[in-house]
Amino acid sequence: MTVTIRKPVKRRPQFHPLRVSTVDRLTDDAVAVEFAVPDELRPAFAFRAGQHLTVRRLVDGEDVRRSYSICSTPMDLDRGRLRIGVRQVAGGTFSSYATRALQPGDTVEVLPPLGHFVTDLDPGRRRHYAAIVGGSGITPVLSLVATALAVEPGSWFTVLYGNRYARSVMFAEELADLKDRYPDRLHLIHVLSREAQEAELLSGRLDEDRLRALFEMLVDPSTVDEWFLCGPFGLVQGARKVLVEHGVPETAVRTELFHVTEEPPPPRPPEEEAGEAEVTILLDGRTSTFRMARDERVLDAALRVRPELPFACRGGVCSTCRAKLVDGEVRMARNYALEPDEVAAGYVLTCQSSPLTEHLTVDYDG
Ligand code: FES
Repeated sequence: MTVTIRKPVKRRPQFHPLRVSTVDRLTDDAVAVEFAVPDELRPAFAFRAGQHLTVRRLVDGEDVRRSYSICSTPMDLDRGRLRIGVRQVAGGTFSSYATRALQPGDTVEVLPPLGHFVTDLDPGRRRHYAAIVGGSGITPVLSLVATALAVEPGSWFTVLYGNRYARSVMFAEELADLKDRYPDRLHLIHVLSREAQEAELLSGRLDEDRLRALFEMLVDPSTVDEWFLCGPFGLVQGARKVLVEHGVPETAVRTELFHVTEEPPPPRPPEEEAGEAEVTILLDGRTSTFRMARDERVLDAALRVRPELPFACRGGVCSTCRAKLVDGEVRMARNYALEPDEVAAGYVLTCQSSPLTEHLTVDYDG
C-alpha cells in the first residue's frame, strides 16, 4: 500500500459533536432528538428540507453509523434547532440507544446534512406537492411540508400516510398543528392497516390497490406537480408503479428509502469474482493505493487503509459513500440513492461497488 500526500483540494464534511437539547417521545418505539447547533456551526449544518444527518457511535470498538432524516425546517436552524426522528428497529444499535437511553445534555457525533430528497422552493411558485409515506417515512416529509407551505404561500401539499395503528403514527401532533395552520393547503390522509376507520377506503395497507382507489376517489394525480415517496422498499416500489400507470413522469417523482428488505442482489458470475484489483482512492486531497479482492466492496477494502472514509447505511440507500469513478469499471450490487444523471456522470456508491477491471481510481473529492 502506498500513500501520497498532495495539496488538499476540498475538505469533506466532518463529524461535529452536538449537544442534545431535547428528546421527545413520539410513540412507544420512536423519539424526536433535537440538537442545539451553536452559531459557529450553523453554516456547516445548513440544509434543505428532506435531507438527513449521519450520526456515529463507537460500540465495542466498532464505528457504527446511521442516517436519520431531519424533521425540522431550515427556519428552525436559524434559531439553533435541528431535529431528527428515530424509530427503533430490531437489533438497531443507535436506534435502541436513542429511543431508550439518550438524554438531554448528551453529546452525539453528527455529520452535516446530505441527501437528494429535496426540491427547489420559490416563494413565487404555485405547486401541488404530494407525498406517499409509510411509518417513519413521514420524517423528511414533515420537514418538506412545513417548509414548502411556509416558503410558498401559493402551494399546497397532499400527504397519504400509512401506519398500522393510530398510536404508531409518528409526529401526529406536529401534523395536526400544520393542518390547523394551513387548513386549506394541507390535505392529510391517514391510512391504518390494523385499525378500522370509519371510511373503509382508509382501513388497510397503503398498497397498490388502495392507492389506485385513493387516486380514484380522493387525489387526482394529474393535479400533482411533484411527488415524494418515502418508506419501506415495498411501499415505495408499489407507489412508483401506480404513478407510472397514471402517466406521472419519472422526473416528477423523488424517492427516499430507509432500509431495503428485499432479496439479496443476484450472485455475480464467478469470473468477475476471481482475482484482485489495484485501487487508488482520492480523499481530502490525499491518494492511497492498495490491492483488494474483486469479490469485495470498494468501501470495505478502502476503510482498512483510510478509516476516515464517509459511509453510513452500507446498504445502497443513503449515498454518503458516493464517489466518482475516474478510471476502471465496477459493478454496483444495488443503487437506491444515486439519480440517473449522477450515474451517467460516473458517480458510484462505493459500499455497493466491486471491481470489474484490474485498476480502479475512485475520487471521493470529485
Ligand atoms: S453507505 Fe449508504 S449508500 Fe453507501
